[in-house]
Amino acid sequence: MHNQLAMNDPVPVITLDGPGGSGKGTVCLLLAEKLRWHILDSGSLYRLTALESMQKNVSDEAQLIEIANNMDIDYRPDGARLKVLLSGQDVTDAIRAEPVGSKASEIAAIAGVRQALLERQRAFAVSPGLLADGRDMGTVVFPHAALKIFLTARPEERAKRRYKQLKEKGIDANLPELVAELEARDKRDSERSAAPLKAADDAVLLDTTEMSIDEVVNQVLRMANQCFGTSVV
Ligand code: C5P
Repeated sequence: MHNQLAMNDPVPVITLDGPGGSGKGTVCLLLAEKLRWHILDSGSLYRLTALESMQKNVSDEAQLIEIANNMDIDYRPDGARLKVLLSGQDVTDAIRAEPVGSKASEIAAIAGVRQALLERQRAFAVSPGLLADGRDMGTVVFPHAALKIFLTARPEERAKRRYKQLKEKGIDANLPELVAELEARDKRDSERSAAPLKAADDAVLLDTTEMSIDEVVNQVLRMANQCFGTSVV
């Protein structure tokens, strides 16, 4: 009976949703390292669909859905981060460019594209556990996740974090423009009818404006230990 139960136990999943710059990505990477769990960076799937559509100069809905269904993607561990391959090409940096992010947010409003990416996302839930980073992880993709976190931060703070990340990569950036871009993206993500950005009813809300990354990681880790019986510090 015990074995049967164990076999039917779902893979533990922690969902981390929230707007861009709320710290989800960094928090996910650090938590994955500590828990030794897998990561789903769901935004990268929308960015990959956007990049391939830009490369192929495609904007017709049916063709976008076909790309989402058939694109050849792979993730490889690369030090502290994940290398992202599209048809064998390293596109780790290319998918982070702002025009790709904007295009991703545009095509993410198409229900058929979201549906095409759904099973790909669910396939990431494998033992020993998954940290799922996105906008609709707790509401749509993993509605039965045992621990759901929704991270927020004030737009000015999120823009400052993005600015710092871009500067560190040697990319020129303008702070007021970043604030405007983030607010436009938030608006589009929150107001779309297909899986809008919103906290699941059973999500824990964490405002990270005044918190350091370590404080956020430690707080989620305490919740994970309580929820999954892990004892990671
Ligand atoms: O998180 P990231 O900035 O990489 O996501 C890029 C875009 O992909 C977001 O602005 C959002 O429109 C879309 N997205 C989404 N659902 C997710 C993850 C990302 O709609 N689960």
